[in-house]
Amino acid sequence: MTKSPLTLYLAAPRGFCAGVDRAIKIVEMALEKWGPPVYVRHEIVHNKFVVDTLRDKGAVFVEELDDCPIDRPVIFSAHGVPKSVPAEAERRNMTYVDATCPLVSKVHLEAARHAENGKQMVMIGHKGHPEVIGTMGQLPEGEVLLVETPEDVANLMVRDPGQLAFITQTTLSIDDTAEVVKALQARFPTIEGPHKEDICYATTNRQGAVKQIAPKVQALLVIGAPNSSNSKRLVEVGARAGCDYSQLIQRATEIDWRALEGVSAVGITAGASAPEQLVDEVVAAFRERFDLTVEEVVTADEKIQFRLPRIVRELA
Ligand code: F3S
Repeated sequence: MTKSPLTLYLAAPRGFCAGVDRAIKIVEMALEKWGPPVYVRHEIVHNKFVVDTLRDKGAVFVEELDDCPIDRPVIFSAHGVPKSVPAEAERRNMTYVDATCPLVSKVHLEAARHAENGKQMVMIGHKGHPEVIGTMGQLPEGEVLLVETPEDVANLMVRDPGQLAFITQTTLSIDDTAEVVKALQARFPTIEGPHKEDICYATTNRQGAVKQIAPKVQALLVIGAPNSSNSKRLVEVGARAGCDYSQLIQRATEIDWRALEGVSAVGITAGASAPEQLVDEVVAAFRERFDLTVEEVVTADEKIQFRLPRIVRELA
């Protein structure tokens, strides 16, 4: 049977960001040096493939410090943790490595600086996401108020409208966040904020690449996990940029081929915690079914790398 022609447009940049790359290296190096088991509090990054691979090497994923024996090292995930978590690990004399992405730590520092200056914080983010829990947990309860939408801004009850600052989750939609910031500035004209929102370079670049690809394709597949904030935002950006069909998939086996019937151009991208192997797997699945042309659409060049924490560098 002759295969029908199809062009795959691969977004670049896509997949791993420097923070994810660093967090995975931290777990791998810890396993190498301390030997298994090494405990990891929460999924190190939101990707089942990555978590399963590390689990096979001897990492044990738990949700709370209480689930870790005190005589084994524990690693905190890239999303960051409330201040109380490393404090408790120290109290118990545990060896821990903080794999919080340095760009998330930067937001933690911003929050602390504003609090020192007497400001109450408003955080723009998604309720329940571990990064939001970690960032809000840098300050005492009530010091950071969470908003997700412009409507939430209208309902905010603040201590002093003249003493406010805002911070954001790093993996938000750029366009949605701009709307919330506008609402905050309209209601609280003196609110302080970062020059650019705290949305990180990787989130920004991946969304930018999807916006470029969207007009060329009839369908967009985002490789990522259902609990990955930046991946879910890529699906929304694709839909908003005009893709009739924009879907999140974890692996090639989740591709809905019937939905792609009659389609001749498909965009592929991957969230910041999805490894390139999964992109290769998806491309191979398309190659089996179509007479495939693959084109990479490069919209930014990423060279950022983060240093590993000292405790891990010393181990090496
Ligand atoms: Fe860090 Fe952004 Fe990646 S905050 S973990 S570089 S998605």
